[in-house]
Amino acid sequence: MNDKSKYIVTSLQEKFIELFDVNPFLFYAPGRINLIGEHTDYNNGFVLPAAIDKAVYVAISERKDDLIVLYSVEFGENFYFALSDIHPVKNSWINYVLGVVAQLQNRNYLLRGFNLMLDGDIPIGAGLSSSAAVECATIYALNELFQFNIDKIEMVKMAQKAEHEYAGVKCGIMDQFASMMGKENHVIKLDCQTLEYEYVPLQLEGYKIVLMDTQVKHSLASSEYNTRRNECNEGVKMIQQKYSNLESLRDADINMIDEILIKDSKVYMRCKYVVEEIQRLKDACESLKQNDLKAFGQKMFATHDGLSELYEVSCSELDFLADSCKKEEAVIGARMMGGGFGGCVIALIKDECVDDIIQRISISYQQTYAHEMKTYITELKDGASAIKN
Ligand code: GLA
Repeated sequence: MNDKSKYIVTSLQEKFIELFDVNPFLFYAPGRINLIGEHTDYNNGFVLPAAIDKAVYVAISERKDDLIVLYSVEFGENFYFALSDIHPVKNSWINYVLGVVAQLQNRNYLLRGFNLMLDGDIPIGAGLSSSAAVECATIYALNELFQFNIDKIEMVKMAQKAEHEYAGVKCGIMDQFASMMGKENHVIKLDCQTLEYEYVPLQLEGYKIVLMDTQVKHSLASSEYNTRRNECNEGVKMIQQKYSNLESLRDADINMIDEILIKDSKVYMRCKYVVEEIQRLKDACESLKQNDLKAFGQKMFATHDGLSELYEVSCSELDFLADSCKKEEAVIGARMMGGGFGGCVIALIKDECVDDIIQRISISYQQTYAHEMKTYITELKDGASAIKN
């Protein structure tokens, strides 16, 4: 843990003791990046995410009654819920905790009352999956506290379901998987159809992963996300009329798309992007194996173009940053990351040029949009875990 995380954990523990008068158990679950393979998870394709050095930290203790008491350091307010009356509420972060509680209850895990306090350093709305981190930290903590002995992959699935049912976003499995299963200095090549996965060492000799945060999150993000999912399903149904064995876009190829879908319709564009992106990820993994980071980076640029022009989930700010990166020789790859409509661009930048490039792009971003961009230089870390105290 770095000094900043240690500080967050120590003060979380102190606050917990102050409020609940008992020493808590401590857990964390990280945010994630994704190198390539965007909007492919819910199409049964592959993704290449990793857990990062920013996380949600949870302090937890059992209670003697049947209440859940929740407290977020950031928002500074207590919330009380009876275990017998768990339902979605309007307030966002609480839903990620309650959604997990509901999943456990649905599967008949016997929960008792608990106090849960959380804090963290994953910027909210930056597309680094702070919500998945809250879900994963919560389920990990409850599993340990009540010794349910739930398998990690099962917890991933429950955390994803919590997001579907309590936040209303029909997300794929990538974010929760990365937050739970991440491994230091490795990316995860995850097959979202079978959930088979492989840890691939990421040797970035001479390069850094830099996240450029637009600091915008356009409000249509979650509704458009669900719309994209529906458009892909529509495409699948149309293709199935001729190719009845096809289960998802994972099984489609570009010839089927061209043959069956109406050129330049939305469904055509969405499906074309997905099929191309699944192939692009496979090619990118080959480039990684051959240690050809430049070829890998080229595919990231191509992904951005696809997300922007065919999948239409980018926005002016993201395009601006991706374009600015493309103009820099020392940036070998860059693209918007995550669901879209705001959040971060992920870029691979030559070590010695990182500061200069960030400075140049920050200035032109500020001049164009009259607000700041933020940057995070990222390291790959382990997934959810207990913190010894
Ligand atoms: C969000 C979702 C993920 C994934 C990405 C896009 O982060 O939660 O499941 O679909 O968008 O790749």
